[in-house]
Amino acid sequence: MARITINPTDFVSTINPNIYGHFTEHLGWCVYGGIWVGENSSIPNTDGIRDDVVAALRKLKPPVIRWPGGCFADDYHWEDGVGPRAERPRRVNIHWGEVVEPNSFGTQEFVRFCRMVGAEPYLVGNVGSGTVRELREWVEYCNFDGDSTLAERRAADGSPAPLDVTYWGIGNENWGCGGSFSPEDYCTEFRRYATYVRGFGKQLFAIACGPSGNDIEWTIRFFRKLRRDYWDFRNIHGFAAHYYSGTAGTATTYTVDQWYELIAKGLRMEQLVVQQRAAMDAYDPERKIGLIVDEWGTWHPVEPGTPPRFLYQQNTLRDALVAATTLDIFNRHADKVVMANIAQTINVLQAMILTHEDQMLVTPTGLVYGMYAPHQGGTAVRTTIDSASMVYKVRDGEEDLSLVSGSASLKGSRLFVTLTNSHAEDDVEVNIALLGGASVREAQAEVLTGEIHMHNTFEMPNAIQPRSLAMTATGASFKVTLPPASVTAMTLRLS
Ligand code: AHR
Repeated sequence: MARITINPTDFVSTINPNIYGHFTEHLGWCVYGGIWVGENSSIPNTDGIRDDVVAALRKLKPPVIRWPGGCFADDYHWEDGVGPRAERPRRVNIHWGEVVEPNSFGTQEFVRFCRMVGAEPYLVGNVGSGTVRELREWVEYCNFDGDSTLAERRAADGSPAPLDVTYWGIGNENWGCGGSFSPEDYCTEFRRYATYVRGFGKQLFAIACGPSGNDIEWTIRFFRKLRRDYWDFRNIHGFAAHYYSGTAGTATTYTVDQWYELIAKGLRMEQLVVQQRAAMDAYDPERKIGLIVDEWGTWHPVEPGTPPRFLYQQNTLRDALVAATTLDIFNRHADKVVMANIAQTINVLQAMILTHEDQMLVTPTGLVYGMYAPHQGGTAVRTTIDSASMVYKVRDGEEDLSLVSGSASLKGSRLFVTLTNSHAEDDVEVNIALLGGASVREAQAEVLTGEIHMHNTFEMPNAIQPRSLAMTATGASFKVTLPPASVTAMTLRLS
């Protein structure tokens, strides 16, 4: 049993569509095989980019895609990936299995891919092994709308018009694979690099590297130095944390306790958001800098038989529950979280899409992104949930997990509500009360549910799909029964 109150007159903030962002890295089969097959491939493609993947992604509506890494970004030199493809250098991908990177997929190909799927590109600069000049020139190559040598190169590469890239990351995980900096040293580097991320007439969005997980010390030390030494520094718009969750077991083989454990670990994102935003508020009381989580998701042992550094994993209903509950957290904190990028779009970690040669499937996580898309650009409204909880076993004892979570957003007279029931076997009856004089005129819902290990395979790509959920709702309060292990999306027309 759970009691939910939603107040459609109590606005949190507009849900930035970028909360539904993705991340694609030169890692395993994400780019090569997943997106890029080349013009001469027998797999149907447009300019080398898979048609099936583009069509599937368009339905999931990714608003922004981060690229080229990840750890790969701080060893990537953008000039390797422009100009005639046959002349591009081959480099060793030092982070991801030392495979040879052909650079066939570079800036032009990535931006084209983004435009095909309807997303904004988010480029991550190289702070760890690159130079300020390199990043400054990458921005000019992409965005300068005049007669410079770099703009001319861009035109010769196929884009006379600027690529108009707004989002620029100043390094990735610079506490680790991006150069092993201390927060203070990274702060100095950030300021130097960000100074040269110029808009050429366009307002850019510069993103600083935030903590590993909820490492508050990184945040405090970074902002303390930024504010003390560079108190007037303005070229910072976002601050990006990374958070991954996993359990023992594998992506598809887990116990009921591990089902609960993973969902509970995913829910720790709430603590990260609450504590990180509080730490940021101390240095940025006017809240000009947005909190971003530009890598997050589930991280399981790789699928047996696949290369260990390719991070290829299957994706079940358990991952879908983590995706849904995490997106609900971001929606509820829409006044601070301005972007989030699930890792990663295709064939890596908590993927939306898996491919194998010419086959493709949308994972339960991808299906959640499709179901949640109506939240994008809606106004998050205050929602409180009082739910029963479940005790589950972990290695050194017991923990408990609140069974129902969710969020709500308003667009005109349409109230969109998403809810999860984490109970592995039992329905949960939910009582929903609308405050502020709101009343439901018409309701419809769809649900993603099944046995807790369900997933799609290349043999059965539609084994798990959302289906409509019968519900009747009118007036200011109503009941709905959430099936076990489920994600529900409800559209309520208000009178
Ligand atoms: O997403 C995989 C890797 O995880 C990224 O390259 C890195 O930033 C993080 O540690």
